[in-house]
Amino acid sequence: MTVERLTDLSQISRRALVGGAVAGGINMLAENSVNAACLWTAKQAEGPFYPEEVSETDWDMTNVVGGTGRAFGEVIEVSGQVRDSRCHSAGGCTLEIWQANARGRYAHLHDTGNSQPLDHNFQGYARIVADGNGNYRFVTIVPGSYPANGDWIRPPHIHFKVKSEFSSLTTQMYFDGNEHNDQDYLLNGVALEDRRALLVKFDQIHANGMRAGKFDLVLADD
Ligand SMILES: [Fe+2]
Repeated sequence: MTVERLTDLSQISRRALVGGAVAGGINMLAENSVNAACLWTAKQAEGPFYPEEVSETDWDMTNVVGGTGRAFGEVIEVSGQVRDSRCHSAGGCTLEIWQANARGRYAHLHDTGNSQPLDHNFQGYARIVADGNGNYRFVTIVPGSYPANGDWIRPPHIHFKVKSEFSSLTTQMYFDGNEHNDQDYLLNGVALEDRRALLVKFDQIHANGMRAGKFDLVLADD
């Protein structure tokens, strides 16, 4: 049985108020746009499947050295920008990413309650460094949903652990519109206005047919 701890449900994000915007009384339009861009990203549980050991860590999770082909599933691109609590880009921050394969199985010793097969062509984990403007990008597959506890089905999601010089954040990214989102205890433990930032639309299409989505993150101060 795979259960991601509920004890972190209370760790909802606080709203970021940009001091200068409030104190300075700049016009409402500018204030709203600044706050919208710098809403602190909600924390989410790390879960039980943070990798214990990894081999490859590069940005393309759909290929592994010595593999027999590309990972099973729909290939997608995820990109975005990481900012700090003052809305400055977190250039050079590190992002760790891990997720289940397309059938909902983690390559982890503790994922024993899942009868779905492993995919030996799927990397399952990446560690990437954002550029000087906090921008990052990786290629992966849409993870499958998986059974958690009782009737609870975890919707497809990607785990993120982000570290910058002064901040860190552990959270999960979800796929907007997925049928399991509305019943997920972890996602719905986040305040509605913060939840939207965790839901990513994959409605951009690259020339090669690959869907792409943007997941921007804002780190609160540690
Ligand atoms: Fe998970």
